[in-house]
Amino acid sequence: MRVGWREVEEKAQEWVREAGALLLASLKESLVIETKTNASDLVTNMDRHIEKYFIERIQRTYPTHRVLGEEGYGDEVASAEGTIWMIDPIDGTMNFVHQKRNFAISVGVYHEGEGMIGIIYDPVHDEMYHAVRGEGAYCNGVRIAELQPGNVAEGVIAVNAMWLTENPKVNAEKMAALVREARGTRSYGCAALEIVYVATGRLDGYLTPRLSPWDFAAGAVIIQETGGIITTFAGRALDPVQKGSVLVARPGVHPQLLEYVK
Ligand code: IPD
Ligand code: CA
Ligand code: CA
Ligand code: CA
Repeated sequence: MRVGWREVEEKAQEWVREAGALLLASLKESLVIETKTNASDLVTNMDRHIEKYFIERIQRTYPTHRVLGEEGYGDEVASAEGTIWMIDPIDGTMNFVHQKRNFAISVGVYHEGEGMIGIIYDPVHDEMYHAVRGEGAYCNGVRIAELQPGNVAEGVIAVNAMWLTENPKVNAEKMAALVREARGTRSYGCAALEIVYVATGRLDGYLTPRLSPWDFAAGAVIIQETGGIITTFAGRALDPVQKGSVLVARPGVHPQLLEYVK
């Protein structure tokens, strides 16, 4: 059966927009904030509420699809078979709590392991990034231009200072060399936005030693539609249902960044 991915994407965008409005409204209310694995790992009542909001709608509309969500209300997903929705109800929860900006909703739809739909919505700026595989990437309905080659020396690269401290997957000396070589470095604390900022050219590259499928699923679909490159630190394709390192960049910058994380 041929699946109309465009129709699924329209439905998903509608839900994402509604969910974004709920998040905006919640910024005026008091949040229930809890910690998960450690004191910096925050979760709020809104993370849980928005994930449930999506699951209810997906199950009602597409009963054969599975859902992998950060807060664990979806399915146990161990394989990439069938159609899977990868949901991060709030990417950048720390920003949501502390800054009330720089967070996003991230929704990716994968079919038999291939990314078909990517939607990332920044409700504060009302920026909806969206893509259907093979049909280009858009921001608020306007096509995002194809990325041109660049280089690190003239690039702004997103890195997190935390990785320079004690991460076995990152060589701190090489990272320091990268920080010196790049024109500038930034850290936004929201993986989904950092990936779409590479797609739109606001950033030239973004690298991180460990993301979960819901963090990169939507972004991977969007960046590939702009000619950007997304791989692991080993330069391999991402496994859509596994945690792993992520290196995303425009052409030219990607092979240069790989050298710093080898
Ligand atoms: C986190 C953010 C952050 C990244 C972390 C993610 P969350 O997601 O994307 O930028 O560095 O690895 O877990 O927990 O706010 O959804
Ligand atoms: Ca989280
Ligand atoms: Ca996340
Ligand atoms: Ca999250």
